[in-house]
Amino acid sequence: TLRVETDAVLSSVSPMLYGLMTEEINYSYDGGLYAELIRNRTFQHRGKSFASWLPASRGNGEVEIDAGSDGPSAALSSSMKLTIKARGAGDEAGVANTGFWGMGVKPSTTYTGSLYAKTNSPMKAHIRLIADQTGEAVAETTVDLSGGAWKQCEFKMTSKAEITASAQHHLEVLFDQPGTVSLQLVSVMSPTYHNRANGNRPDLMEMMAAMKPNFLRLPGGNYLEGDFIKERFNWKETIGPLVDRPTHRSPWNYTSSDGLGLLEFLEWCEDLKIEPVLAVYAGYSLKGEHVTGKDLEPFIQDALDEIEYVTGDTSTKWGAVRAKNGHPAAFPLHYIEIGNEDYFDKSGSYDERFQAFAKAIRAKYPQYKLISTAPNTKGDPDVQDDHYYRNPEEMFALVHKYDDADRKGPKIFVGEWATRTGSPTPDFGAALGDAAFMAGMERNSDLIVMAAYAPLMVNVNPGGMQWSSDLIGYDAIRSYGSPSYYAQVLFANHLGDHTVKTTASGENPRFFWSATVSTAEKVLHLKLVNGSSSAQPLMLEIPNAASGNATVYTLHGASRWITNTIEHPDVIKPVKSSATWKPQLSRNVPANTIEVIDIPLK
Ligand code: AHR
Repeated sequence: TLRVETDAVLSSVSPMLYGLMTEEINYSYDGGLYAELIRNRTFQHRGKSFASWLPASRGNGEVEIDAGSDGPSAALSSSMKLTIKARGAGDEAGVANTGFWGMGVKPSTTYTGSLYAKTNSPMKAHIRLIADQTGEAVAETTVDLSGGAWKQCEFKMTSKAEITASAQHHLEVLFDQPGTVSLQLVSVMSPTYHNRANGNRPDLMEMMAAMKPNFLRLPGGNYLEGDFIKERFNWKETIGPLVDRPTHRSPWNYTSSDGLGLLEFLEWCEDLKIEPVLAVYAGYSLKGEHVTGKDLEPFIQDALDEIEYVTGDTSTKWGAVRAKNGHPAAFPLHYIEIGNEDYFDKSGSYDERFQAFAKAIRAKYPQYKLISTAPNTKGDPDVQDDHYYRNPEEMFALVHKYDDADRKGPKIFVGEWATRTGSPTPDFGAALGDAAFMAGMERNSDLIVMAAYAPLMVNVNPGGMQWSSDLIGYDAIRSYGSPSYYAQVLFANHLGDHTVKTTASGENPRFFWSATVSTAEKVLHLKLVNGSSSAQPLMLEIPNAASGNATVYTLHGASRWITNTIEHPDVIKPVKSSATWKPQLSRNVPANTIEVIDIPLK
């Protein structure tokens, strides 16, 4: 029996409860969300040759590829130098780029490009998107390079109407006369969400929007810290013209183009109508390098400047820089996180670092809530960030973790969490663990102010994944949600403003629930999770339920191992149905099932 007394209000539900957490991991931005087709566009990845770049030619054209010793800016001070040997009419030579495991091209679509070039004489560059299978150009343009010093050249090309959308494309940049040409920052962007210049892939943005998030924790976890101090997310090097961004190595072992820099993170928030939870670098990097005492001062100043960049009006120094970068309006902000997972700092310096940052931030910005990243941090954090990566059984065991937690200490941000079975994206067993854990978070959302699943995204191509179990998978053109993704969508879209009293008896140990009410709509959102392999018969008693139709969303897996994949994205999806409802009703919740039921109240 499960009895829900909707008149017995327990506590309010945090209006910020569900949000997003991502970082440059699993090719989440480059090769993922960021709409750039070109991999290694600034030639930072160098082995014996330039990774992802190959010599290319037509007819009898030939090319030699060398490292160029100069570039178009101080940030990009090297290049790729081509010596073109083209002998006759129709001969072309240059380079091809293979993209992030191919380039996604759709019919009748305009691609926006730019490159920086320095040539020894005026030259024409033939730029083409080529179908891998046929070698045919599906979109092309020719640009004139005027010769002499470094210049930027912008272009557009529209794909043919008759092609089929596919990820099997590459780019060619070919020249039809002999000479030398140095290239840097070769970019081709596909159309973006809300047509933002330098923006994001629409399919992935739409999937995030469907999760009804309230915030984005940015710029990430390990990605904020970097392996070493010099590899931290140094936000000042991620803003302004792309040519002035030096790029940096991320702790996930590849170089980030930083095309998706601080302003782009904020615009991503703006596009989804959510707010940033701004994590500032706090003087500690993953391999243990850290600073204390007076050496912290420049890092604290960077954090203060960053907050000003996000929130300051245009009369402030960094607000003015933001305006110059194209965004005069300030962004909303309520939460600032100091560091990431500082419980890993075995030097014990976090108390000092947190207090130093908190003192300076509170002196200038007393209105913001400060988040610490280790338990029992000295310095009165407003919120503590707890992380959980577990298997389903461990997740079931965590469901009641916060029921009796101290309500007098800091609030809780579950800033990273996931049930980790299945790869590259989680299986249905993981979705059951997630749903059970979310039921526990909803019940405790007077204490848990925010929560974010992590990681959010993975490029599913071999080599794309550094961390298994990621919510959304994709290749260069397709994307899909894991069962866990659909559990998130259901839970966030059917959430009331307060919790109500429930009493249960006789349930199996893997049966979990949450009951929240939307006051204005007079609807009870009842979430039932049956993580056992047997059906759970239920007698539901809801004295205030209005007789009539309720809406039921069911996520069911034939087994815990069943899942969605890029080839089979729709195996597990919510099924909507309606059910006749009465204040008292018997109901069967099948094995391996998540049910979200919206029940109208009297
Ligand atoms: O989400 C993956 C990683 O897990 C994050 O970068 C880090 O904060 C945590 O250890």
